[in-house]
Amino acid sequence: MINFSFHNPTRLIFGKGQLEALKTEVPRYGNNVLLVYGGGSIKRSGLYERVLANLSEIGAVVTELAGVEPNPRLSTVHKGVDLCKAKNIDLILAVGGGSVIDCAKAIAVGAKYDGDMWDFAERKAAATDGLPLATVLTMSATGSEMNSGSVITNDDTKEKLGWGSPFAAPVFSITDPEHTYSLPKDQTVYGVVDIMSHVLEHYFHKPVNAPLQDGFCETILKTVIETAPKLIEDPENYELRETVMYSSTMALNSMISMGIVGDWGTHNIEHAVSAVYDIPHGGGLAILFPNWMSHNLNVDPARFKRLAVNVFGVDAKGKTDEQVGQEGIAALRAFWTSIGAPSRLHDYDINDSDLELMADKAVKFGSFGNFAKMDKADVLEIYKASL
Ligand code: NZQ
Ligand code: ZN
Repeated sequence: MINFSFHNPTRLIFGKGQLEALKTEVPRYGNNVLLVYGGGSIKRSGLYERVLANLSEIGAVVTELAGVEPNPRLSTVHKGVDLCKAKNIDLILAVGGGSVIDCAKAIAVGAKYDGDMWDFAERKAAATDGLPLATVLTMSATGSEMNSGSVITNDDTKEKLGWGSPFAAPVFSITDPEHTYSLPKDQTVYGVVDIMSHVLEHYFHKPVNAPLQDGFCETILKTVIETAPKLIEDPENYELRETVMYSSTMALNSMISMGIVGDWGTHNIEHAVSAVYDIPHGGGLAILFPNWMSHNLNVDPARFKRLAVNVFGVDAKGKTDEQVGQEGIAALRAFWTSIGAPSRLHDYDINDSDLELMADKAVKFGSFGNFAKMDKADVLEIYKASL
């Protein structure tokens, strides 16, 4: 393994009825709360009223920032930063999915920075402080509730960039599987694809001794593959929702990353697509990941074989590693298609007109990927294969 130093500061408050913990946790940070949420799903589900009732019981003063977009925009971050400064906010409370949480993370560090927080996304500066941020998660997908990463779209330049800072990690996150009952089927599917993609990004790590990490990855993948089809048929099943919710947090809270460096190339390629076309992140990954795999099968066929055999039960007898690996890629594609995920860029009306533009965005910081190095030509080939 590579050397590592592990620290995750987020208190994870998991399970039914845990919203009540707001009453004990929020006062640790102060009285002035900025409540950040999205386009209205929390009002329709009734969660908004329940959050406000809990905050009112402890006498919190609440300022609201509503309307955070899926693929959250820098302009919305700026609104939140202005509110924090004007209202002397003590704690930011994000109630929603990954987009709401990512926006709140950017507000948290932006509120303690004299310049524009976009400097952090551009790698021109690193955050040195942040307001405390807490979350109430409503969608199992990103793991943002227990990591220090965030992805923001700059409305002016149409760039979507990931960034991270220890000052963006939530101080606590409430994850109640019942809060995900109201998710529409397509968002549940996008979440499943994102969770599996996070595990796959880890699984295709630089070759180091990592038997436990590989085992964690395979177990999360198999668990999600077994659970997702049942969940789609039975969306208000608590046990199925809790299995997926816990899987999503574990897929990207650094627990499975210790001692390894994952690839993360497909995420970079996808972010360039959703920057230009504003498509759901999980939908983009479903289209691109199998094509990234086919493109890079030859980098280490034995690794693809291991995935095929251990996760998808492919019979390897009498076949080359490449053949087995290819069957595993086909099995992944078939699984995602079976639960309703898209498989082609055309599914989002994306044709070949902007492939160059997207590829340029993907290589903004140069070639990338830790398992397989990718340059612009590689990215273009994957986009073309994905049309
Ligand atoms: O905005 P509202 O009205 O809340 O509706 C949302 C949104 O339309 C809806 N939704 C969420 N919870 C719901 C619900 N609808 C009904 N019931 C509920 N319980 O679902 C839609 C999508 O929400 P969003 O937050 O955009 O989805 P997700 O959690 O997948 O987040 C996607 C964003 O996170 C970034 C992605 O790139 C994308 O911008 N990522 C963040 C990561 C991180 N911070 O670690 C890692 C990921 O790889 C990813 O890149
Ligand atoms: Zn993702």
